Amino acid sequence: MIKAENLTKKYSGLKAVDSVSFEVEDGEIVGLLGPNGAGKTTIMRMLTCFLPPSEGSATLCGYSILKDSRRVRQNIGYLPENNPLYEDMRVKEYLNHRAGLKSIGFREKRRAIHKVLEKCWIEDVQNKMISSLSKGYRQRVGLGAALLGAPKILILDEPTVGLDPKQILETRKLIKELGKEHTILLSTHILHEAEALSDRVLILSDGKIIASDTTAKLREQMAGGKTIYVEVKGPDIETVKNRFLSLEGVTHVTFETRMDDYLAFLVQSSSETDPRALVYQTIKENNWQLRELTLRKMSLEDIFIQMTNQSTVPRKEEAVKTS
Ligand SMILES: Nc1ncnc2c1ncn2[C@@H]1O[C@H](COP(=O)(O)OP(=O)(O)OP(=O)(O)O)[C@@H](O)[C@H]1O
Ligand SMILES: [Mg+2]
Repeated sequence: MIKAENLTKKYSGLKAVDSVSFEVEDGEIVGLLGPNGAGKTTIMRMLTCFLPPSEGSATLCGYSILKDSRRVRQNIGYLPENNPLYEDMRVKEYLNHRAGLKSIGFREKRRAIHKVLEKCWIEDVQNKMISSLSKGYRQRVGLGAALLGAPKILILDEPTVGLDPKQILETRKLIKELGKEHTILLSTHILHEAEALSDRVLILSDGKIIASDTTAKLREQMAGGKTIYVEVKGPDIETVKNRFLSLEGVTHVTFETRMDDYLAFLVQSSSETDPRALVYQTIKENNWQLRELTLRKMSLEDIFIQMTNQSTVPRKEEAVKTS
């Protein structure tokens, strides 16, 4: 189990990770999802004892990263960002080297290496030079190295980045397999990846966790309501926006853009209501000209962008109902 409490990392006063708390239960696969620079790698480096936190702490399998880093490291397998490997070693040689670093005994080593070669589907390249391997194979070697010593927890930093679609699918399949025996925290900036791999996601933005749930629940929570797109020729942005916002069930109105003399808005309502009829009625009553009125299905990408935007200052043109 992983338990982070108020983990904070400051770089020259700037908070790269800002009081982050979360738990990962035994056997869970949890995705740490966030755009570039959100703080994913920094969190992972603190959890793996490569970087001391400025404030806060964490325990992994009950061991504190501050007081018991040796035991923490014994219980985790870490695939760092960019999967650094020794190019001039053969696969088996590299795994042997890594097993040595993990203090795996001489007798055990052979068995441990054999096991990860098999588990990560890299038996056929065990005698090849790492420099000659494709990215997909390299990633599997990196995962194999993380697995040495059968750690309870795996921490994987963007495990599929840079791979081609086939390699991505293979690597995901492998991670899913590993999830049956290990607790996994993985980072990604791709929502779809988090959805494909994780039981639960933590959404990180500007060093803070802004949401934590299953992707299905997040989707429900964010897009449960209906979103409609309206293009209308009205008096001015504020007037139109406020009229829409006063309609029953409407929770958000966002001004998108101006095209010709038309103003484009996104109107969001709570889950039960489809605001199209009411919006149409309002436009008719005011004698505004309507050019488009469509129901929008929000993609997961939209939801993610909306969430990471909403954690900061609301956009200037966005009006939010406060009742
Ligand atoms: N050694 C460092 N010195 C100063 N600032 C740093 C350092 N390492 C990271 N940062 C800053 O901390 C913030 C978080 O970086 P981090 O690498 O953890 O993000 P990330 O979510 O892993 O991003 P990416 O998706 O690009 O890998 C960024 O603003 C980054 O510039
Ligand atoms: Mg990173």
